[in-house]
Amino acid sequence: MYKILEKKEIALKEVWYKIHAPHIAKKLKPGQFVIVRAFENGERIPLTPITWNKEEGWITFVVFSRGKTTLRMNLELKEGDYLLNIAGPLGNPAPMKKFGKILAIGMITGIVEVYPIAKAWQEHGNEVISLHITPEPMILLKDEFENAVSNHIIESFPLKEGMGMPEIFMELLSRGTKKVRELIEKEKPDLVFMVGPPAGQRAIFEVVKEYGIPMEVDLHPIMVDGTGMCGACRVHVGEEVKFACVDGPSFNAYEVNWDELIKRSGFYSDLERKAMEMYLQVIQANGGAQ
Ligand SMILES: Cc1cc2nc3c(=O)[nH]c(=O)nc-3n(C[C@H](O)[C@H](O)[C@H](O)COP(=O)(O)OP(=O)(O)OC[C@H]3O[C@@H](n4cnc5c(N)ncnc54)[C@H](O)[C@@H]3O)c2cc1C
Ligand code: FES
Repeated sequence: MYKILEKKEIALKEVWYKIHAPHIAKKLKPGQFVIVRAFENGERIPLTPITWNKEEGWITFVVFSRGKTTLRMNLELKEGDYLLNIAGPLGNPAPMKKFGKILAIGMITGIVEVYPIAKAWQEHGNEVISLHITPEPMILLKDEFENAVSNHIIESFPLKEGMGMPEIFMELLSRGTKKVRELIEKEKPDLVFMVGPPAGQRAIFEVVKEYGIPMEVDLHPIMVDGTGMCGACRVHVGEEVKFACVDGPSFNAYEVNWDELIKRSGFYSDLERKAMEMYLQVIQANGGAQ
């Protein structure tokens, strides 16, 4: 059992947690993730620690209320409560070497996963320019980035009334691709790195590819066990089948089979939507979240 030491909403639908998890804090490296099961009979969800402290034995992460499990965590859990279990650290650490100038991009919540890697790259002597592409109410970790990298840029827009997910996503893509082109022309990075929704990663990759700059992406296929056993997270990279949980999560963007990744990510959308609707009905029947 893992105690929630602190919990606070830090942006729209984005909740920050500090968790007592000494054995994970002891081993974590930038680029790795954990799998959390918060509730009895609940789903296992991958999350990325953003900061941790070996001596004090805690880790922090941010949870975006995306579907049933993340919304339930953010609504129901309180400081002092416990998460049932956390598996990790999982996945491979990001390579720590001198690349030169790095453009590190996070789309919406993806920016939280960029943070530990960008910070460590800067500490390893790279010049890191970070870019957060996001709706304004979801700006995250601005001060933390400004203290950690050479230059932090936010490309944001206000959420207007009547804007649904398709309109928000179109705005993210059109602003994101324009800004990345502008930054590549101006900064001439040696490496581009990105975390975000797969369709957003692919759109940015199409721009980067025109310039032939190396690009790495952290992939987010559906994960279940996180140990290479279930096959849920398989992706084609080059000619090979890879498991994002044990071979990744970082891959060469030029080799990823984007069509397959995007299709598989939406595989359970109907069931996920139903689970969310049922959960919201239960909340309403009980007079709202406690
Ligand atoms: C390596 C990795 C690191 C991640 N780090 C973070 C993080 O730091 N903060 C954060 O808010 N989110 C993170 N995510 C995404 C997060 O795991 C999903 O948003 C969450 O699992 C959704 O669960 P849900 O029940 O709320 O939504 P659901 O309604 O079940 O799913 C909504 C969508 O989320 C994705 N998803 C659902 N289940 C999984 C799963 N088991 N594995 C991966 N994706 C899934 C799918 O695209 C799905 O269509 C990470 C994902 C991966 C793979
Ligand atoms: S999550 Fe099961 S193989 Fe990767």
